[in-house]
Amino acid sequence: MMRTPRSLVGGAPSAEYTIGFDGRELPAQAGQSVAAVLWAAGILAWRTTREGGAPRGAFCGIGSCYDCLVTVNGRPNQRACLVPAREGDTVTTQEGTGHADLAV
Ligand code: FES
Repeated sequence: MMRTPRSLVGGAPSAEYTIGFDGRELPAQAGQSVAAVLWAAGILAWRTTREGGAPRGAFCGIGSCYDCLVTVNGRPNQRACLVPAREGDTVTTQEGTGHADLAV
C-alpha cells in the first residue's frame, strides 16, 4: 500500500470545486492555495518578468519572493502561494506589473 500524507493522517478531502485559469477549469479543494491548484494541474510557470519575459511560478512558497504573482478576480499582483483558491475564482497569468491597462 502506498503511503501518502493524506493516508497517514486519515484525511478526506472536502467537496471539490473548480477555479478558472486562463480559460481553463482547474479542480481545486478547500484549503489549497492558488499555487497548489496550479501545481496540481501541472502548471509550473504563470508569470513573466518585466525585463526579458522570463517565466516565473512559485519559488519560495511562503510569500517572500513575489515570483508567483498572478491576477485573481481582476486584482493583479496577488501572491499565488498565499491566496486561497475559492470556488468560482478567475485566475489569469500576469505580464509585467499587471497594470498594462493603465499604461499611457
Ligand atoms: S512563491 Fe515566493 S512569494 Fe509566492
